[in-house]
Amino acid sequence: MKIVVLNGSPKGDLSATMQYIQYIQKKLPEHELKILNIAQQIKRLEENEEFFKETIENVKNSDGVIWGFPLYVMLVPSQYKRFIELITERNKEKAFKSKYTAVLTTSIHFYDHTAINYLNAICDDLEMKYVGFFSADMFDLMIRKQREQLILFAENFFYTIENNLPTSKQNLSLNYHKFEYKPSLDINDEEKIDSEDKKILIVSDSTNENTNLGKMIERLKFCFYGDIKVINIYDLEIKGGCLGCVQCGYDNKCVYEDKDEFTEFWNSLKSFDIIIFAGVIKDRYLSSRWKLVFDRSFFNGHIPTLRGKQFGFIITGPLGQIFNLKQILNAIPELQESNLVDIITDEYQDSSKIDSLLLNFAKRLVLFSKSCYIKPHTFLTEGGMKIFRDAVYGRMRFVFQADHRFYEENGYYDFPQDDERAKKMNDMLIPLTQNEKSRKNFYSMLTSQMIKPLQGIVADPNK
Ligand SMILES: Cc1cc2nc3c(=O)[nH]c(=O)nc-3n(C[C@H](O)[C@H](O)[C@H](O)COP(=O)(O)O)c2cc1C
Repeated sequence: MKIVVLNGSPKGDLSATMQYIQYIQKKLPEHELKILNIAQQIKRLEENEEFFKETIENVKNSDGVIWGFPLYVMLVPSQYKRFIELITERNKEKAFKSKYTAVLTTSIHFYDHTAINYLNAICDDLEMKYVGFFSADMFDLMIRKQREQLILFAENFFYTIENNLPTSKQNLSLNYHKFEYKPSLDINDEEKIDSEDKKILIVSDSTNENTNLGKMIERLKFCFYGDIKVINIYDLEIKGGCLGCVQCGYDNKCVYEDKDEFTEFWNSLKSFDIIIFAGVIKDRYLSSRWKLVFDRSFFNGHIPTLRGKQFGFIITGPLGQIFNLKQILNAIPELQESNLVDIITDEYQDSSKIDSLLLNFAKRLVLFSKSCYIKPHTFLTEGGMKIFRDAVYGRMRFVFQADHRFYEENGYYDFPQDDERAKKMNDMLIPLTQNEKSRKNFYSMLTSQMIKPLQGIVADPNK
């Protein structure tokens, strides 16, 4: 089998993910795995037509394609996302059509599912034959059992190709509706919202007033008295995507800090109370420019630098059909310990409906900002932060020392083994379950006893 491996790591040959590919190559030498350093060479791929063509030819002449990439901020690295965009921008889908394909990714399993879902959908959109994914922890290769699993995965991939076996499609094609949003800029003064001392910022990847996004931004601005700052992320000087060098782990200083405007931009967000991110859906995510912004914000490590803000999104495109992206958009502010007020899209195909949604959005942004409303976390943060907590406290501490200092100072190390109250309760209650009679008694009272403290709060006139 001739397999092309599209390497999504900006580190190129020094990628951890590619060690998994090299291992497959060592164990199954009868197959040829040709690695193409896509993410590392993205500038050349964009600028050099011949080089891009050569890459596509490699795909065309292969028996199968492996998308091998590291997880970057819940998805693939921005450079890889850009390559995926180039495939459609340059009408090269045909080279991928009907090719057998699989995903191999390494990470610490933080939102690996959203990255995998994304690439699965891209493969479905390209009409590839998606065999499956292998999501390894970055050091799984050190474990014999995991190496065996990796080889089983690779063997199954080759077997599927050799035998031309059928594969399932997990994603329906996206349905884009043509709709031109015609906003009303006619709001009477009583309806307009006084943001008082709240500072509001809109960050967008398009401010063109002839697009739905541009018009939605204008409408939102119009809902407020006073000035709303708008930043177009294409106007920022950003030298390149995150390199994955993790030098920022020591002191949150990016190697690009004095070379481009990104750090200053991100730090400036901290001075706003209300932040709205606006973007156009490109394939199954936002633009690779937005991805670049999220990747570069990694210089903050795993620290929520935008805590306590009111957040919102304005999106154009079929978000309702891309649940995976919705989940990511929900997670971004939540992980920042901020409050997501709403996501407004242009999917309603009804200008007056969008007008009223944007007005109500504006109202709630200010109202919640004034009352400091932050809704409780969901699994998106509860689960995610436990992964970060354990990694930063444990095996990643030597890299992410700035995170460790922050987590220690801010009470993020909430390990259950340190919970004295829970320990006491367990010591007291577990013995009650040790014989059949007392166990029966214990469980029969459990439901009513469990809510006793909650009932106490409800009954307390001072709380
Ligand atoms: C900018 C950046 C973002 C990352 N984001 C995630 C993430 O969202 N989830 C995760 O589990 N790991 C994340 N990681 C960890 C990498 O996925 C992991 O270290 C990977 O094995 C690196 O592979 P590579 O050496 O092939 O580039 C991130 C690393 C970097 C540098």
